[in-house]
Amino acid sequence: MLLTMKQDDSPYYANLRDLHMSPGWARPEPSMWASPQPKFKPAVWRFADARKALDASHNMVPAEQTERRNLILVNPIEGNTYATTRHLVAAYQCVMPGDRARTHRHSAAALRLVLHGREGVYTIVNGARIDMLPGEVLLTPAWCWHGHVNDTSETGYWIDFLDIPFVQLSEAMFFEPYPQGGLEAITATGDTPMRIPARAALGEGGDAKTVEIAAGVMPTIALKLIRQPKGGSAAMPKTTANAIYAVVSGKARFVTENFDATAGVGDVVAMPCWHAHTIEAPQDTVVLKVTDEPIFEKLGLAKSAN
Ligand SMILES: [Fe+2]
Repeated sequence: MLLTMKQDDSPYYANLRDLHMSPGWARPEPSMWASPQPKFKPAVWRFADARKALDASHNMVPAEQTERRNLILVNPIEGNTYATTRHLVAAYQCVMPGDRARTHRHSAAALRLVLHGREGVYTIVNGARIDMLPGEVLLTPAWCWHGHVNDTSETGYWIDFLDIPFVQLSEAMFFEPYPQGGLEAITATGDTPMRIPARAALGEGGDAKTVEIAAGVMPTIALKLIRQPKGGSAAMPKTTANAIYAVVSGKARFVTENFDATAGVGDVVAMPCWHAHTIEAPQDTVVLKVTDEPIFEKLGLAKSAN
C-alpha cells in the first residue's frame, strides 16, 4: 500500500498523538503488503563456535541456574534480542559432568536434537528417564515437567528448539518450577514416544526421503527429517511458515537469494518465511527441519508459491 501523506508538526497531529490515535491516511509505516515481507533473515550458526563458548562458560553459570547454560541463536536483524525466526527460538545447550538442571515446566513447547552424549546424560520428562544419544530428537511438549542430569565424565550437548517467541507474542506464557525443588523422581525408563532416533525414523537405505515425526504432538511445531544422498537436492517453495534447520549427519548446503551456507553436523540455519530455497547434499546427509507450519495451517494462513 502506498503511503503518500505524512504527519506534520501541526496542532492537529499533536492532538492525535496526545489521544494515542494514529491517522490511517498518514501512518508512519504501512500495515498491509501485497505478499509477505519477512523481517527475519536467513542465517547460519556453527556448533564448533557454540561448543567452544559453552565449554568456556564453565565457571560463569551459577549451579542453581544450570538449566540456563545455553546460547540463544539470535537472528541478526535490528532490534531482535532473542528469536531465531518469527515464532521459534533455537539454542545450543550443554550439561557438564555432575550438572543437575532443575525440573520445571512451561506453556512453551520444546524439543531437543542431541549432538553429543551417552548413557548417563539424561533428561527426565514427566518422570520418564530418557538418555540423550546423538541423533535423537527428544520431545518436551507444553507443560511437561523436565530436568536434565549428567552422571558421566563428559559434557553433553544438544540444540533446543522452542516456540517461546510465539508464546511471548500471544502473551500466554506460564512457567512453574518443580514444587518440591530439585529434580523430579524417575518413575519410568525404556522406550517412550518422547524419544525419536532419527536413523530409526528414516528407516534403512540412503535414498532421498522426508518423514514427518511427532505429527500433531505439539500444536505449534512440526518436525521433518530430510534425507538426501550425495549429489541430491531438495527444492523448498516459498511458504508463509518459517523453518530452522539443523544438520543431523553429513553436510548440507542451503541456498536462497543472497544466502549460501554449507552446514555440518550440529550447525543451524534459519530460513524465514517466503524464501524459496534448496538443500543440496555434497555428501549423504540428514537434516532436521523444525517449522511453525501448524500455526499457519490452523489459522488458515498457510500459503506457498514458487
Ligand atoms: Fe524448559
